[in-house]
Amino acid sequence: MEFYAFVIPGLEEIAGQEIVERFGAQLGGHRRGIVFFTWDGDPAALLGLTTTEDVFALVGRGKVSTEREGLEEAGALVADSPLFEEAVSAHRRARPKKVKRISFRVVAQRHGGRQHYMRKEMRKEMERAVSWRFPKWKRLDEDALIEVWDLEAGSELLVGVRLSDRTMRHRTYKEAQIEASLRPTLARAMVRLAEPADGDVFLDPMCGAGTILIERGEYGRYSQLLGGDIRAQAVAATRTNIGPRYKPIEVREWDAGSLPLDDGSVDRVVCNLPFGKKVGEPREMRSLYERFVSEVDRVLKSGGAAVLLTSERKTLELALREAKMLYLERLMPVEVLGQRAFFFKLKKAT
Ligand SMILES: C[S@@+](CC[C@H](N)C(=O)[O-])C[C@H]1O[C@@H](n2cnc3c(N)ncnc32)[C@H](O)[C@@H]1O
Repeated sequence: MEFYAFVIPGLEEIAGQEIVERFGAQLGGHRRGIVFFTWDGDPAALLGLTTTEDVFALVGRGKVSTEREGLEEAGALVADSPLFEEAVSAHRRARPKKVKRISFRVVAQRHGGRQHYMRKEMRKEMERAVSWRFPKWKRLDEDALIEVWDLEAGSELLVGVRLSDRTMRHRTYKEAQIEASLRPTLARAMVRLAEPADGDVFLDPMCGAGTILIERGEYGRYSQLLGGDIRAQAVAATRTNIGPRYKPIEVREWDAGSLPLDDGSVDRVVCNLPFGKKVGEPREMRSLYERFVSEVDRVLKSGGAAVLLTSERKTLELALREAKMLYLERLMPVEVLGQRAFFFKLKKAT
């Protein structure tokens, strides 16, 4: 069966790795924000993916004209799709629910492109095609059993039945929110990039609402989780979101530029640094990054790894020049709320 997943741009490779590692699925390539794959297992298992925002069973994919006839071509792509029944049965298996009558809605999206028709017209065309294909289905504007999503990216059209719901991207643990809290899928991708191991002492020195610590806790075994933040409010939010889970864990109010931790006591550091306009003066940021990097350099064990997220590439690169033992293993661009940012994967020399 053919599937695709929406991912935050930049996470295509990491999400592809998760899909292969967990399901042994065959990747069918990717393009910005989308990973294609083929797999014959139980579609319900796909709802457990952690680095994807949404997952779909493929209905159709192909080029359609950006002129008005594109609408008709798109309708035909759906009406004649040999995959539609299979996509619907994947949905049935992933989200079994007894209903008297199947309801559906169409969600139409567009990334760029110069179409000579409106997105609304495309949605209507899709609705017509689905109704033609399944005359007994009832069309709704909201809360439908089956969601058919179409995405126009340039002259390519992608149509699928959505298997996931909002809990895939938002999870269910975020009771306490703080500003600049990280998207869980990004946090999980950072955890995976850090290559965690069962015996790890894992640290997030600026933990905000605790997203990274929770995603590490969910990922698998560890020996100790450590987190902290300079703001009491963030520490409280982390404690609320963690609840009684993920022991042993310690969350403290501290300054990440002067950590109360021993030299060489941590295996993995994963951290979403403060960045962007709201954070403060560039000078303050430089000083924070320098003090922080020097602490990561000190507390990591030799051979340990750190994955840091920031949009302040230059500031972090400058701070890293002063580090004694840390070196940059990989720099990966990612998009954070429409802004270009980077995962810095660092290693401590042995
Ligand atoms: C971008 S947010 C992290 C968000 C977090 N990853 C989440 O998902 O909620 C950065 C955090 O760094 C904290 N912070 C700023 N300066 C700090 C410092 N010197 N020491 C510790 N934490 C600091 C802020 O209070 C903020 O909560």
